[in-house]
Amino acid sequence: MARLNAHPSGRHFLQIPGPTNVPDRILRAMDHPTIDHRGPEFQALAQQVLAGLRPVFQTQGPVVIYPASGTGAWEAALVNTLSPGDAVLMVETGHFATLWKKLAERLGLKPEFLPGDWRHGVDAAQVEQRLREDTGRTLKAVCVVHNETSTAVTSDIAAVRRAIDAAGHPALLLVDTISSLGSIDYRHDAWGVDVTVAGSQKGLMLPPGLSFNAISAKALAASKTARLPRSYWAWDEMLAANANGWFPFTPATNLLYGLAEAIDMLMEEGLTAVFARHARHGAATRAAVTAWGLDLLCLNPAEYSQALTAVVMPAGHDADAFRKIVLQHFNMSLGQGLTKVAGKVFRIGHLGDFNDLTLVGTLGGVEMGLALAGVPHREGGVQAAMAVLRTTGSPATAVRRAAE
Ligand SMILES: Cc1ncc(COP(=O)(O)O)c(C=O)c1O
Repeated sequence: MARLNAHPSGRHFLQIPGPTNVPDRILRAMDHPTIDHRGPEFQALAQQVLAGLRPVFQTQGPVVIYPASGTGAWEAALVNTLSPGDAVLMVETGHFATLWKKLAERLGLKPEFLPGDWRHGVDAAQVEQRLREDTGRTLKAVCVVHNETSTAVTSDIAAVRRAIDAAGHPALLLVDTISSLGSIDYRHDAWGVDVTVAGSQKGLMLPPGLSFNAISAKALAASKTARLPRSYWAWDEMLAANANGWFPFTPATNLLYGLAEAIDMLMEEGLTAVFARHARHGAATRAAVTAWGLDLLCLNPAEYSQALTAVVMPAGHDADAFRKIVLQHFNMSLGQGLTKVAGKVFRIGHLGDFNDLTLVGTLGGVEMGLALAGVPHREGGVQAAMAVLRTTGSPATAVRRAAE
């Protein structure tokens, strides 16, 4: 008789929108004795990753690495650039924008929250209007989430930049890319972003534990006069140490080995192909949801996320009961609905180390789970997704064919 705690055969399907599946190459790269973080081998590794990160953020400027979850990098972005009592403009795109706003409040900032319905991204016109009204220039920063992981809605950051410029406003632009970096096109320099916040555990395919700030020259200048207290997060000490391949404190050495491998993998595939792969998997997933007759939480097709899809449960059906059935029967984790949409939404992560058959397996588990949970739906979602995958052809296949 099988033991209750017997190891389930086959791989767990980790289809939450991060942390994502860590590819074997990265696991092997981290499987390394921990080295002296003040020795030459570490210095070479640090220099490699600090330089290698820049193209991932599409920046020529510095990127700092914290041994911290994404929340740490949120805090770092604020405490390095702002002063007690500063007003900042934030936009309620969902759960994560709300958490960032709460963090800002706790730090003694005065966030102004443009309300949202959790089904749309940032309205750049609204941002522009608010900045035009701010004739006293009291708003010191605009803080937005690029890919709102709680709703699967992606905001147009270039449009936010244009809004700030059109208003002629000097506010800094701070952007959370925790669930977009390495999955959705993101351009720190071209979009005039001042601080980009990112984390290791999603598009970068690493375990949780690293987070990042990409820093513009304007943000660096602001940090010279910003007065919020900071110590661990201080950019000046970090940048001074990084200049020679060191850290001001003990770095997460083994995660950095993984990071070096992750950067290599992204560059080997090419960022354009990485983004196209995510876009294709997003389109196939949405085709499945539509075929099931279920609703997407995101209401604006121009803002559909390439990294994940949030699906609305039919009224009277609990998304968490459904997710539990999927986990029990198919050993697959799906993302839960967070705070305002708890129990009403489930999220399918299709970001990171992911291919066509992983997606088909994922959607197969969802479709079988819907039936087992008695959720009203039509069959044929997986077929619809396969039709998208078959007719669009994966960029990886094109590369393999060209090589034959
Ligand atoms: C968009 C976004 N911002 C911030 C966070 C918080 O990051 P962490 O949980 O790594 O602290 C997350 C986590 O999922 C996220 O998806």
